[in-house]
Order: sequence, then C-alpha cells, then structure tokens
Amino acid sequence: MAHDRAVGIHDLSFATTEFVLAHTVLAEHNGTDIDKYHHGIGQRSMSVPAADEDIVTMAATAAAPIVERHGSDGIRTVLFATESSIDQAKSAGIYVHTLLGLHSATRVVELKQACYGATAALQFAIGLVRRDPAQRVLVIAADVSKYELDSPGEATQGAAAVAMLVGADPALVRIEEPSGVFTADVMDFWRPNYREAALVDGQESIGAYLLAVQGSWKDYTEQGGRALDDFAAFCYHQPFTKMAYKAHRQLLNHCGHGVDEDRVSRDLALTTAYNNVIGNSYTASVYLALAALLDQADDLTDRAIGFLSYGSGSVAEFFAGTAVPGYRDHLRTKAHREAIDRRTPVDHARYRGLHEFSFPADGGDHRTPAETTGPFRLAALRDHKRVYETR
Ligand code: HMG
Repeated sequence: MAHDRAVGIHDLSFATTEFVLAHTVLAEHNGTDIDKYHHGIGQRSMSVPAADEDIVTMAATAAAPIVERHGSDGIRTVLFATESSIDQAKSAGIYVHTLLGLHSATRVVELKQACYGATAALQFAIGLVRRDPAQRVLVIAADVSKYELDSPGEATQGAAAVAMLVGADPALVRIEEPSGVFTADVMDFWRPNYREAALVDGQESIGAYLLAVQGSWKDYTEQGGRALDDFAAFCYHQPFTKMAYKAHRQLLNHCGHGVDEDRVSRDLALTTAYNNVIGNSYTASVYLALAALLDQADDLTDRAIGFLSYGSGSVAEFFAGTAVPGYRDHLRTKAHREAIDRRTPVDHARYRGLHEFSFPADGGDHRTPAETTGPFRLAALRDHKRVYETR
C-alpha cells in the first residue's frame, strides 16, 4: 500500500557498559587459540555490565540524548524490547519513563521474542505513526547476553542498548514496505524463567538462523520486495560478527548469485565495527549494525539498506530502509565512539565476579557497589523493588 508520508528512524543513539573484557584475556584463561575468536567468530571484546548497571540504566543512557535533542512532547509511546527482563509483570520501560521525565500521557510496554523483539517494536511503532503522524514513538532495544562460564557461548556475550525515535519525515532512515516474515518452532536458544544464563544448541542455532534468512527473504520477494542487487549494504543480527557473513553467503547462494567474497565484504564490512567490540546485544544487535554502517559509510543518501532481524525460537524479518538526504548531519558518531572507548578493561577474575553477581531473592535491602560512571545507576534492591539513581 502506498503512503504519502515517509515513516522511519528519526534519531538513533546507543549505550553500552562500564567494563569490557578483551577476547585475548578469555583466550589466555581457557587456552583457546585467539584466532578462533578474532577470525573464527569475528569478536575482539565484549561489554560487561557493572553490578549497578542493567537494561534500564543502559536504555536510559541511550535514550537521554534523544529526549535532550527532540524534547519529549511528541512521545506518546515507549516500546521496550528485551529478553533480559528484570520483572515478569512491570515493563522495564516504566523505569526509563521516570528516569527521563517523560509525560504521564504515554503508553509504555515491553516486548519479547528473543533478538527479534526490537524489530517487532519498530514495525509496531511505524503503524502507530501512520495512524497519527504527529506522534513519535521511542523504541528501545536493551539486553545483557549471558551464557554459562566456560561454555561455547561464553565468547559471544555482550551488552548494549539502542534507542530509536520513530516518526514521520524521518531524518535518518525511511523504512519501506513490504516486510518478509518467517516463524518456525525450534529449540535453538531459550532461557527458562528460573535461569539467568541462556541455554543454547550452538550448531542448531546457526542452522535455524540460516533457514530463517531463506524463509524471510522468500516471503519478502513474494510480497514484491526489491531485488538483491538494489541494496548498498545489509544489516544482519550479529550474535557474533561472522554469523552475518554466513547469513549473507546463504542469501547470495539462495538467490543463485554464487558467493563472491569481495561482494560479501562490500555488503557487510562496515556493519560489524560496533558488534565486534561489544558482543551480542540480542535485540540491539541489528540496530548497532545500522549505527556502525551510517557512522562510517561515505554517503548512503537514497541508497537501500537491507535488514535481517533474527530471534531464536524462531522469528525473522527481512525489510528495507533508505538513508534520507542530509542524514549525516543527524548522526551521533562521536558519542558512539566514546561509548565504546570509555569502557574500563577488566581482568578475568573481575569479569568472573561480575558474571556471578546476582541479588538474593529474600526481599532484603541490598545495595550495589557504586561502579558505573554513567548517568544512571541501579543503586539497590529494597523490599523486592529496584531503586535507580540519576547522577
Ligand atoms: P564453538 O563450538 O566454540 O566453535 O561454538 P566452533 O568450533 O564452531 O568454531 C567457531 C568458528 O571458528 C568456526 O568457523 C571454526 O572453524 C573457527 P566456521 O567453520 O563456523 O566458519 N575456528 C578457527 N578459526 C581460526 N583459527 C582457529 C580456529 N578454531 C576454530 N584456531 C558457537 C561456536 C557460535 C556455536 C558458540 O559460540 C555458541 O554456541 N554461541 C551462542 C549461540 C549463537 O550465537 N548462535 C548464533 C545463531 S542464533 C542467534 O543469532 C540468536 C541469538 O542471538 C539469541 C536470540 O535470538 O535471542 C543467539
């Protein structure tokens, strides 16, 4: 269906954690050849949250510059996508709503479908803006990826939040119709309510992702989407950056293009720059790929960008966006670099301690050590209630 007004991403900002663990440190600890991490999975370091950081503090840190730039008047909806939920009932977005001082005339809701959740949020936001083009929707994707210590997944952990302001006449990226969607019931990766770390069948998960690439592309073409050669670049969900390469080769093969490695590299290389030092940030990952692409590409004005969002379980969506004229004036490249560069490296013992940290479920008064230097912190758990502070 044709619409007269473009709708899409008006602003984008991300935040990550206080600490970082280099893969060289992990490799030294577990005796892994560092080439496996640097080249085999394409990861160099991973973001590690301090004890007083979580999805709320990262989300508020990511979204605060957006509210500062645009004000909060048009924001009537906050959609918070996560699979690292801090509560089974209350939306993490309500804490962010308070920390950012948003209006009470706002709807706030949390969405979940593994790493795919933020794409659902983006598409729902577009629907709301089409209904009322004066409205802006704050979409937040925030996650802490946590696997068991000494498991194969450990090297693919990470954490980050991306905040996007979705509106009419967007300053960054117009999101196009159609979308190609795909669902299959698979147990490739899941986290039962009683566990902090995810369970995963690594090889099964890679196969399920590749099947979903094919399935969502097939639907995208059947819905009348663009041809493969139209795209200037592709932003894939990146649980580890080499996964994007596997996925893109699968797509090229499926489309009968054969795999030309120069082309694969041209289509993907710029999109991995943030994910390869942050690690898997689940819902945020595909939008960190977009941030890295926009921040580094020479000029993508009016060029099509492909998005492949995958969430285990599984759901995938392929869709397209186009960078709008003047988009480079609205980027946050310097702040994004600083978010990565400000992290303090930790040694293996410190990382292990942070990995094992959790609040006892006794409803007592548990203060967290003041570790983060960011603008928001999780100060305590008191009477089973999370207490946040603004600096
Ligand atoms: P593993 O068993 O540790 O590693 O698990 P591997 O033996 O499969 O090796 C990994 C790659 O490194 C291989 O490359 C090796 O050849 C290479 P490939 O054959 O795949 O191209 N390699 C080396 N390269 C250079 N020098 C060396 C060397 N040694 C090996 N010396 C695995 C890897 C990804 C399975 C594991 O880390 C894992 O289980 N990760 C978590 C699951 C995951 O990320 N799955 C991805 C798809 S599912 C998804 O994306 C959804 C997710 O984000 C969750 C959600 O949706 O919520 C996870």
